[in-house]
Amino acid sequence: MSSVGSYVDRFEKLVAERAGTKYAVATVNGTAALHIALLVVGVQPEDEVLVSALTFIAPANAIRYAGAWPVFMDAEPRYWQMDSDQVVDFLEHGCSWDGGVLRNRRTGRHVKAILPVHILGHPVDLDPILAVAEKYELPVIEDATEGLGAKYRGHSLGGIGQIGCFSFNGNKIITTGGGGMLVTDNEAWAARAKYLTTQAKDDPIEYIHGTIGYNYRLTNLLAAMGCAQMEQLDAFVAAKRQIAARYQEALARLPGFRLPEAADWAFSTFWMYTVLVDETKAGIDSRQLLKHLAVQRVQTRPLWQPLHRSPVHDHRGGIPCPVSDELYRQALSLPCSVGLSQTDQNIVIGAIRTGVTERVGQNGKG
Ligand SMILES: Cc1ncc(COP(=O)(O)O)c(C=O)c1O
Repeated sequence: MSSVGSYVDRFEKLVAERAGTKYAVATVNGTAALHIALLVVGVQPEDEVLVSALTFIAPANAIRYAGAWPVFMDAEPRYWQMDSDQVVDFLEHGCSWDGGVLRNRRTGRHVKAILPVHILGHPVDLDPILAVAEKYELPVIEDATEGLGAKYRGHSLGGIGQIGCFSFNGNKIITTGGGGMLVTDNEAWAARAKYLTTQAKDDPIEYIHGTIGYNYRLTNLLAAMGCAQMEQLDAFVAAKRQIAARYQEALARLPGFRLPEAADWAFSTFWMYTVLVDETKAGIDSRQLLKHLAVQRVQTRPLWQPLHRSPVHDHRGGIPCPVSDELYRQALSLPCSVGLSQTDQNIVIGAIRTGVTERVGQNGKG
C-alpha cells in the first residue's frame, strides 16, 4: 500500500521503456513530476522558463512553485502546439548570451529551461527547439502528460528532451486515478528526483534530511493499476484514433469547421478531439454550439484560457499570443473517451449537424 514496492518499480520500468529512457521516477501526479523536473535541472527562484501559452495551467504553476517565472510562447496555427519559430526568435533576439548566461533582455532574468507542452495528443515540432536549446545550454523538459502513446518523428514523446513528464489523472489516456511520472536518461537527475520526491531522506533509519523534500511518491497500489493500464495503452490509442477518424469523416464538410490534423512528422493519439468553429461560416460560435449540445445532453468543453491571459500569472511586458487567443475562441473538445460507443458518437455527430444547420437556416445562410 505504501510508496515502496514492486509495482512502483514495475510501473516505472514500463513507462521508461515506452518513452525510450533509462530511468523513470513515479510521482503522485503530473504537476509534481513537472515541479521536480524543474528543480533537478537547476531552475532557481527568479529564473525564467519558456512554456506554452495554450495549455492547462499546471506547467506554469510548477514554474512558480520553483520560484521562477513563466515566459509564455504562442501556439502555431496549424497543429496548435508551442510555436518553435517564436521560441527560436525569442532566444536569438529577445535574449543576450555571454557564453554562459542567457538573459531575457527585457527583464534581465536568467532563462534556464524550455518547457514545451504537447497538447491534445499531438507533438510540438521539437527539432528547432532542441537545436536552439543546445546552442544556449538549456534543458528541454517535455510536458508529455497529454502525449503518452504519441510520437515525434518516430520517437515517443517524453523521451526526446532531457526530461519528460506524464500524468495519469482521470482524463488521461491511461489513468491511475491520480499519478505522474518523470523520465530521463540522466542518472544523477533520476536519483535526485527520487530523493526529492521521497522527503529527501539522507538516512532513512535515523530520519536525517539533507534538504527540503516533498511527499510526491506514487503509492504501490496505484502503481499496480498503472501496470495494468500500460498493458492497454496501445488499444486505447487505437480507440482514440478510430474515434478521430469517424469524426473526421462525419464533420469534414460542415461549413466553418476545422478539424485537427496530424503533421506528417507526427503520430497523434488525438487524445482530446478538438475542433475549431469559425462563426462567420458555421453561423454558430463555439460557445453557442456548446450550449446547443448541452441541451442535447452532449458535454463539450472549450480549451483552456491561454495562460498569457490568466489572472494568476504576471504578464507585464509579456509577448502577445494572438494565435492562442483565436484558438481559444474557436475551439471545442468533443466527447472522445476510449469507451465512447459508436451509437453515442453518432448522437454527438447528429447533434452538431442540427446545431449548425438550424443556425445556418436562421441566419439565412443555408
Ligand atoms: C498539459 C498538462 N500538464 C500537466 C497536467 C497535470 O497533471 P496532474 O493533473 O496529474 O497533476 C495536466 C493534466 O492534468 C496537463 O493536461
